[in-house]
Amino acid sequence: MTASSPLFVVLAAGKGARMKSALPKVLHKIAGRSLLAHVLATASSAEGKLAVVVGPEMEAVGTEAKAVVPAAQIFVQVAQCGTADAVKAATPAIDAHSGDVIVLYADTPLIRPETIQRLRSALDAGANVAVLGFRPTDPTGYGRLVTDAQGRLTAIREQNDATEAERKIGLCNSGVMAFRVPRFSELLGRIGNANAKGEYYLTDAVELAIADKLTAAVVECDATEVMGVNSRDQLAEAEAIWQSRARIELMRSGVTMIAPETVWLNFDTRIGQDVAIEPNVVFGPGVTVEAGAKILGFCHIEGATIGAGSRIGPFARFRPGARLGPEVHIGNFVEVKNTTLEAGAKANHLSYLGDGHIGAKANVGAGTIFCNYDGFFKHKTEIGEGAFVGSNTSLVAPIKVGAGAYIGSGSVITKDVGPGALALERGTQEERPGWAAKFRQMMARRKAASTNR
Ligand code: UD1
Ligand code: MG
Repeated sequence: MTASSPLFVVLAAGKGARMKSALPKVLHKIAGRSLLAHVLATASSAEGKLAVVVGPEMEAVGTEAKAVVPAAQIFVQVAQCGTADAVKAATPAIDAHSGDVIVLYADTPLIRPETIQRLRSALDAGANVAVLGFRPTDPTGYGRLVTDAQGRLTAIREQNDATEAERKIGLCNSGVMAFRVPRFSELLGRIGNANAKGEYYLTDAVELAIADKLTAAVVECDATEVMGVNSRDQLAEAEAIWQSRARIELMRSGVTMIAPETVWLNFDTRIGQDVAIEPNVVFGPGVTVEAGAKILGFCHIEGATIGAGSRIGPFARFRPGARLGPEVHIGNFVEVKNTTLEAGAKANHLSYLGDGHIGAKANVGAGTIFCNYDGFFKHKTEIGEGAFVGSNTSLVAPIKVGAGAYIGSGSVITKDVGPGALALERGTQEERPGWAAKFRQMMARRKAASTNR
C-alpha cells in the first residue's frame, strides 16, 4: 500500500426493507457472492484501506466484510440519519488516514475498478471532490448534479429539496464520491440536516467545499454500473448485467458459447482457452475448466476441475471434489462427487461415482454405482488404471479393483479384485431349449378358455 492509497468507506447500514428478507440486503448474492463482497473486491483491487459502516445488529455484515478483506475496519452507525452521518461513523479510520477518501455503497455492486480509477484521476487533475454521475432513463428520486455555465459542479440537490428547474436535470448522483479535502472530518462535521428529510446528506459536502474555495468535478459513467439493489427484482437485474459482462469477457478470452444467455457463471469460474460450452450449463462455486474441454448441454458443475480436452455431458452433474484429468469423458446422467478420474478415463452413461479414484484409461460401464455410504460413514472406491467395469455393477466401498481387471456386468462387488483378474458375481444362467413355444401355447389356451366363458 502506497502513501497515496485511498481509504474506501463502504456504506452498508441501510435496512434494505424492500428486500423483504431476514438476511441483511447486502448479503444477498449475485454470481454466488454477496453484494458487499463484490464492492469490497472491487475496492481492494485499487489497493486501498477499507472501512465498512454497518447498522446496529448487523454482525453478519461485519463478518462477511472480514471474510473478504480481513484488514477491513468495521464501524457501526447507531441511527440511520443520512449518508453524511454514515460516513462520520468511520471517523477514526478517516482521521488516521492522510490520503483520499472514496465513498461507495454496498448495495451498488456493479461498479468497475476502471471507473473508480477515473474518479481518482479527477482528483489528481485538481478536483477536491469528484462525484460519479450518470444519466438514468428516469431521474426521479436521485440527487441532481447542478452545474454552472462553465459546466462545473456547484451542488447536489436531493429530489425533495430540488426546484422545478433542478428536477429537470438529467445528470444524477450515483452516490459514489471521492474526496481530497484537507481536514475532511471537519467538513463532515459542518454538514447539517436542514432539509426536507431532516437527514445529514453527504451530498452537501459539495457546496461546503466550494464555499471553502475548493473545487468539485463530475465523472460520468454508464447507468448500469451504478444501479442500486433495493428489491429482489433489482437483484435479478443486477445478476443479469453481471452475467452478461462475465460471458462477454470469457468469449473475448477465447471461450465459445453457442447460447451465452443460457450459461450461468459463478464469480470465481475459471475457463481456459478454446473451451466450448453448449446451452444451459450452470457453474456453481469453485470450478476450473482447462483448455479445449467441451461441455455439452445441461451440465451442472460445482467445486470441480475439468481437465484439458475432456468432454462432459449432456446432463452430467459434478459436485465438490470432482477432479477430471485430461481427455476424460463423462456422459449423460453421470454424477461425480469427490472422485478423481485420471487421464483418458471414461464413464459415459448413468452412473454415480462418489468418493473414488479412477485410474487412467479405465472404463466405467453404464449404470455403475459406487456404493460409498453405509448410513454412517463414507468409503472409498479405487479402480486401477485400464480396468473395465461392466455395466450395472455395484461397487460396495471400501473396495479396490486392480489395474487392468475386468468386472462382469451386473455384479455386486464386495471384495477387492486383483490386477488383471475377472470378477463376476451373478447367478448361474439356466437355459431350457424349446421352452418359449410351449409357454406361448399354454398361455394362448388359457386365454381362449377365459374369453369363451
Ligand atoms: C443517495 C444520495 C443521492 C443519490 C442516490 C443514489 C444522499 C443524501 N443522497 O440517496 O444523491 O442520487 O443515493 O442512489 O447521499 N446509508 C447508510 N446510513 C444512512 C443512510 C444511508 O449507511 O443513514 C447507506 C445505505 O445503506 C445505502 C446508501 O447509504 O447503501 C445510500 O442511502 P439511500 O438511503 O439509498 O440514499 P438515497 O436517498 O437513495
Ligand atoms: Mg437509495
